[in-house]
Amino acid sequence: MNFENATKRSAEEVVTDQHDTINPSILYYGTPVLLLSTLNEDGSTNLSPLSSSWALGDCLVLGLGIQGKGYENLRRHSECVINLPDASMWRAVESLGRYTGTYPVPEEKRQMGYEFCAEKFEAAGLTAQDSLRVKPLRIAECPLQIESSVQHIRTPEHTPFMAVVEVKSLEVHAHKKLISGLNKIDPAKWNPLIYNFRHYYGLGELQGENFRAE
Ligand SMILES: Cc1cc2nc3c(=O)[nH]c(=O)nc-3n(C[C@H](O)[C@H](O)[C@H](O)COP(=O)(O)O)c2cc1C
Repeated sequence: MNFENATKRSAEEVVTDQHDTINPSILYYGTPVLLLSTLNEDGSTNLSPLSSSWALGDCLVLGLGIQGKGYENLRRHSECVINLPDASMWRAVESLGRYTGTYPVPEEKRQMGYEFCAEKFEAAGLTAQDSLRVKPLRIAECPLQIESSVQHIRTPEHTPFMAVVEVKSLEVHAHKKLISGLNKIDPAKWNPLIYNFRHYYGLGELQGENFRAE
């Protein structure tokens, strides 16, 4: 709903609720996709596609299923990299979609069609790049890479199958093509991959600017 259109709506439309109350099976309402690098027991890097995250300052929060390898790895080794693919990379992300680094595959995930994969970089055709401050490797193709360390892991009582993971950003790497001026990302050049109810989107047209936009 566009706010300008909303102000033009008829009085009748405004008093009649235009919503239905639903019980959606998924609530992925459109957030950027990230590929989380974590450290496996053997020192190799696992990649987990995620879309549940937010960032404020140097604090980032991730929503992670506790049956995943990413969660297991973070509990053992607190370092990770948040790699942000751009919209053009959706096929590489989706090529990891049915994989887990957990072996054996938990029964519940096996029934959903998940398979084990130890070589996620290879499976996705992505290139491993050394990190500066952490052990898990970065994904060279991702225009934004955030080396991070876990601060807290919490399992909400009402959803014991997932964990809220708070991480601190240690080092941010931005592809040169995105940088405009010192320490600034040009939003016109950054096109995040958006996960919108399990469909991949890029960004649409610029709609406006915040009063603090630079
Ligand atoms: C685009 C995309 C977004 C996803 N978002 C999440 C998420 O936010 N949290 C989560 O736990 N799993 C999410 N998943 C599912 C995980 O990727 C899946 O459980 C995978 O097996 C995790 O890999 P791992 O077990 O090797 O960590 C998402 C999958 C895709 C393809």
